Amino acid sequence: MARRRQLYEGKAKILFEGPEPGTLVQYFKDDATAGNGAKKGIITGKGVLNNRISEHLMMRLHDIGIPTHFIRRLNMREQLIREVEIIPLEVVVRNVAAGSLAKRLGIPEGTRLPRTIIEYYYKNDSLNDPMVSEEHITAFDWASVHDLDDMVALTMRTNDFLTGLFVGIGITLVDFKLEFGRLWEGDEMRIVLADEISPDNCRLWDAKTSEKLDKDRFRRDLGRVEEAYQEVAWRLGILPEATNSDMKGPEVMQ
Ligand SMILES: Nc1ncnc2c1ncn2[C@@H]1O[C@H](COP(=O)(O)OP(=O)(O)OP(=O)(O)O)[C@@H](O)[C@H]1O
Ligand SMILES: [Mg+2]
Repeated sequence: MARRRQLYEGKAKILFEGPEPGTLVQYFKDDATAGNGAKKGIITGKGVLNNRISEHLMMRLHDIGIPTHFIRRLNMREQLIREVEIIPLEVVVRNVAAGSLAKRLGIPEGTRLPRTIIEYYYKNDSLNDPMVSEEHITAFDWASVHDLDDMVALTMRTNDFLTGLFVGIGITLVDFKLEFGRLWEGDEMRIVLADEISPDNCRLWDAKTSEKLDKDRFRRDLGRVEEAYQEVAWRLGILPEATNSDMKGPEVMQ
């Protein structure tokens, strides 16, 4: 088969034309960036792990009725997805204070928030993805009030489900970022979950030790980045064994 046409190369993934109209192939790279590209590196094996982790989480979300762009995994680094019209927002969900929220508001990292907080960032690299409010989003027509309602409902359901799923494997879902897109079926439009869900865009802490099992290991030069991603995959049950990893596994919970 002729090599597929490349449509877009981002910081972590490449999008290729899919085999059928309305589909794309999402290729997961090992490239890692932080601070909007200010820091660059390679995490060997990350693409393979994120492809598997995102496949697993998107399938589990599909099982509970959350519409996603995911169709199927094609190979180690590629998955077939539905092409959507990406809503230019990063929807960040926070359960525990960390990262920019902890810094901006002076709340110690690790403080459980009184309730889940959703934040929006305008996807625009040249502006450094600025935080925006619902007012900006609807005024500039990045999403309608109705789109936003759908996105918030899907985001809260996703958070509830993933929080529970991770609790079950001894991991605290501290925060994460989602992207949504519009999927047209004739005249009907649905908002669906797009992009990826992986340790690149989730903060995942070991529930007992608070050890970081996500991209903060790369951002903060903590080392053992690949091992952390492997640990997450292994606990999710999608790696036969913790290859190359001597991180502590989950303990059976009574
Ligand atoms: N189903 C989809 N249809 C169309 N585009 C998608 C879909 N899922 C994800 N995307 C887009 O594909 C790109 C994935 O590449 P990557 O994550 O590497 O981008 P990025 O460097 O983070 O840049 P960006 O700021 O555009 O997100 C993103 O722009 C994302 O919004
Ligand atoms: Mg991205």
